[in-house]
Amino acid sequence: MANAVQKVAVPSGSTTALIPCILDDDPAQLDALAALVTQCGYDPVTTSDPQEALELIRHGRCRFILADVQMPAMDGFAFLDHALGIDPGVHVVLTTGGYSLESAVDAIRRGAYDFLPKPIDYGRLRRTLDEVAVLYDQRRRVHQLEEQLLKDHEFHGIVGKSPAMLEVFDLARKVARHYTNVLLIGATGTGKELVARAIHQLSPVAQQRLAICNCSAMVDTLLESQLFGHLRGAFTGATDTRPGLFEYANGGTVFLDEVGETSLAMQAKLLRVIQNREIQRIGSPEVRQVNVRLIAATNSDLRAEVLAGRFREDLYYRLSSIQIRIPPLSARLEDIPLLIQFFLKKYNEAYGKQIAGLTRRAQTVLLQYAWPGNVRELENVISSACITATGQFVDIGDFPEHLQKPEPQPADRDAWRPLSLDEVRRLHIQRVLDMCQGNRLRAAQILGIGRTSLYRYLKRDAKDNAAKSGGAAA
Ligand SMILES: Nc1ncnc2c1ncn2[C@@H]1O[C@H](COP(=O)(O)OP(=O)(O)OP(=O)(O)O)[C@@H](O)[C@H]1O
Ligand SMILES: [Mg+2]
Repeated sequence: MANAVQKVAVPSGSTTALIPCILDDDPAQLDALAALVTQCGYDPVTTSDPQEALELIRHGRCRFILADVQMPAMDGFAFLDHALGIDPGVHVVLTTGGYSLESAVDAIRRGAYDFLPKPIDYGRLRRTLDEVAVLYDQRRRVHQLEEQLLKDHEFHGIVGKSPAMLEVFDLARKVARHYTNVLLIGATGTGKELVARAIHQLSPVAQQRLAICNCSAMVDTLLESQLFGHLRGAFTGATDTRPGLFEYANGGTVFLDEVGETSLAMQAKLLRVIQNREIQRIGSPEVRQVNVRLIAATNSDLRAEVLAGRFREDLYYRLSSIQIRIPPLSARLEDIPLLIQFFLKKYNEAYGKQIAGLTRRAQTVLLQYAWPGNVRELENVISSACITATGQFVDIGDFPEHLQKPEPQPADRDAWRPLSLDEVRRLHIQRVLDMCQGNRLRAAQILGIGRTSLYRYLKRDAKDNAAKSGGAAA
């Protein structure tokens, strides 16, 4: 009978097997309890050192502890607190020679799984162990189902089960089959590049190259040279002749990230690629034919840029014949648990860890946060938590400081004042810059504008401030 239970209790893999740990300062008690647990059909480890038992919990080796209440180094209740702090899922059963109903209630209230009087009754211990073994097996099966669910909700490395993301996957799948330009619209870190890669992989030109160009990261001449290539000596520093990305990915796909950041002159050249399939290397009179599919991405409102005269309308229509909008993470909270699981798996593998999950309160914090940096920010939070977490579970203390403190309510932050739009913009930019600790590229991404636009605003504000303080001084 004991063997039948053991089959359930010991699933494959040492981290998931139910290995009872017996903790008692009295060696004779340890031996007696070990014999009893073995008789119940389990293979226990024993120790008289509470720190050693805590280490076993920390490393996921034991998740069932039979602990004595009276121990000189640390009493059973203190041990219980430490154990639950390391792994909230651990089962601690306290054993005592001085049983009272009050202390039993206290133990259960503090998170003990059970409180057993000594001498321990064989039948009761056996029942407790079997119950935990069944729970264990259930947990393992739930874990397997979750893994399956994750597989089912992964689309070319993009995880999502929200209706909005399923729509994105569907559209990407459909559009990939056809040779047309696609515009991906979404805030920073929502996964635009991943979607672009998926479209390329699913397209008939998947065997050809995919070239990626971030249009906002370069000044115009550098961007032109990167996309179209140059002849040797075409400009200072052009020490050799080089083909550009359009030639490199000829027959395949070019992904233009932050296309809204290109100058009007560059936009005219892009239009020529789409309309005539022609390019010219800088400094060369030769017109070359290219055949590439364009996937462009923007985190700003391109239509507004068109209205403001900063983006060519004809190029906008050419690029956006198909638009795929990727919603911000805050609009698809149901994806968060799946993404957490996905990133835990990724970083467990990367860092050789065995973190099983997040504590409940840590999950709650992540579900309540606004995620201005979207999935990229969530990935960064999980990756650094995987580095700092010492136990089996990530807890709030493993998160960056701004996640550990509750968000101040808007009303606390500043009382409403009748500000001009310019003033609101200035304050908002400043707040985002503060949040990004002065990192302008990141701030621009969150604000949904290009870095050059951010510089323009900052320059203008600095000028206004200087004029104001000059005026005040005069
Ligand atoms: N749904 C998702 N599933 C898994 N990983 C994701 C998902 N969305 C984004 N990521 C990850 O988040 C990070 C940012 O994604 P990506 O670079 O595609 O975003 P983006 O929209 O292009 O951002 P930006 O506008 O800043 O360029 C990447 O590491 C990516 O792997
Ligand atoms: Mg990107």
